[in-house]
Amino acid sequence: MGYIEIEKVSKWYKKDHLIIKDLTLSVAKGEFLVIVGPSGCGKSTLLRMIAGLEEINSGVIKIEDEVVNNLSPADRDIAMVFQNYALYPHMNVYKNLSYGLKNRKVPKDIIDKKVKETSKLLQIEELLDRKPSELSGGQRQRVAMGRAIIREPKAFLFDEPLSNLDAKLRHQMRLEIRKLHDKLGITSIYVTHDQVEAMTLADRIVVMNGGRVEQIGTPDEIYNTPASIFVAKFMGTPPMNIFQMKISDGKIDFFGTSVEISNPDGMVFVGIRPEAIQDARSDIVIEVLVTMVERLGSENIIYGECQGEQIVIKSKKMPEKNNSMQFYLSKESIYIFS
Ligand SMILES: Nc1ncnc2c1ncn2[C@@H]1O[C@H](COP(=O)(O)OP(=O)(O)OP(=O)(O)O)[C@@H](O)[C@H]1O
Ligand SMILES: [Mg+2]
Repeated sequence: MGYIEIEKVSKWYKKDHLIIKDLTLSVAKGEFLVIVGPSGCGKSTLLRMIAGLEEINSGVIKIEDEVVNNLSPADRDIAMVFQNYALYPHMNVYKNLSYGLKNRKVPKDIIDKKVKETSKLLQIEELLDRKPSELSGGQRQRVAMGRAIIREPKAFLFDEPLSNLDAKLRHQMRLEIRKLHDKLGITSIYVTHDQVEAMTLADRIVVMNGGRVEQIGTPDEIYNTPASIFVAKFMGTPPMNIFQMKISDGKIDFFGTSVEISNPDGMVFVGIRPEAIQDARSDIVIEVLVTMVERLGSENIIYGECQGEQIVIKSKKMPEKNNSMQFYLSKESIYIFS
C-alpha cells in the first residue's frame, strides 16, 4: 500500500479533451519520485491535483489511506515548491519562513526555534532580515524550500524548482535536495525537464506522455530497459538512434552485418544509443560519413550518415567533416521495439 495513492484519476477542462487519462500511481513512504515528460503532458496538473489546487474529475487520491479528493490544500498537509519560488515580496526571510506557522497559531518560541533549525539546515541563517528582492536566485530557492520544510509536511511536491537557476547552482542545489531528502526522509514528488536531475535524484522515475504513464521504474530500468520508443528517445542525450529494419529468417541486416534477433520475423524498430557506439573493435562495424561534429570538451557528438540513414554517435574521436570513418558496436547494445 502506497503512502500516496493515485487511482484511475482523470482531469479535463473540456469533456472531449482529457488532460490526465485514467492515471494510476503509487508512491511509497519516504520515496523520491521524479516525474518527467514533454511540455504540456500534464505534470503540473498532476502535482496540483495531489496538492488540492486543482479538482479532479474522476478517480481517487489517497494520502496515508485517507481519501483527500474533497480536502482543501491546507488540510492535505502537503508542501509545494514552485519554479518561481512564490515568496511574499514584502516580508523578510524570517517572516516568509514563519508565516505558515504563525497562521496556525504556533507559539512564538517554537516558531523561533524552528526558523533557527531550518535556516541552519539550508544555510540561510545570515539572510533572515533580508527581503526576497535582496536575494540571489539560489538563496530564494533555499527560502522557498525552507518554507516547505518548516511545516514538516506529509509530502513535498516540487514543480521544476531549479529551472530558473544557472547550471552550476542547479547542480549544487540538486545535491542539496538529495542530501536533505536523505536526512529528512519526507516523501517527495519532483517534476523536472532535466534528465540529469531525474536520473540522479530519483528512487523511481515516472515517464509521462499525453496525460498517461509510459513507464515507471528505477533510473537504471528506465535507461537500460525502456518500455517504448518514446521512453527510449526521451531519456538519454542525444536521444537513441532509431532505424526501421526487417527481421527475416530470424536476422536483421544491420548496415551490412547480419545480426540474429529472437523476435518474430517482420518490420521492427531498432534502437542504438549514441554512447553505445564505440571506437574500439566489437561485433559490428559500421561505416559512417561524418557530416558534423560538436565538441563537448571530454567527448564529441558526431552526426553522420550510414547507408543513407542519419546516425548520432558520442565519441572521444574528433573526425574531420565529410570523411568516412569506422565505428563499432556490440550485438548486446541493440534494442528492438516491435
Ligand atoms: N486552466 C486550464 N484550462 C485549460 N487547459 C489547461 C489549463 N491548465 C492547463 N491546461 C492544459 O493542460 C495540459 C497540461 O498542462 P500542464 O501544465 O500540466 O503541463 P506540464 O506537463 O506541466 O507542461 P510544462 O512541462 O510545460 O510545465 C496542457 O495542454 C495545458 O494547455
Ligand atoms: Mg508544468
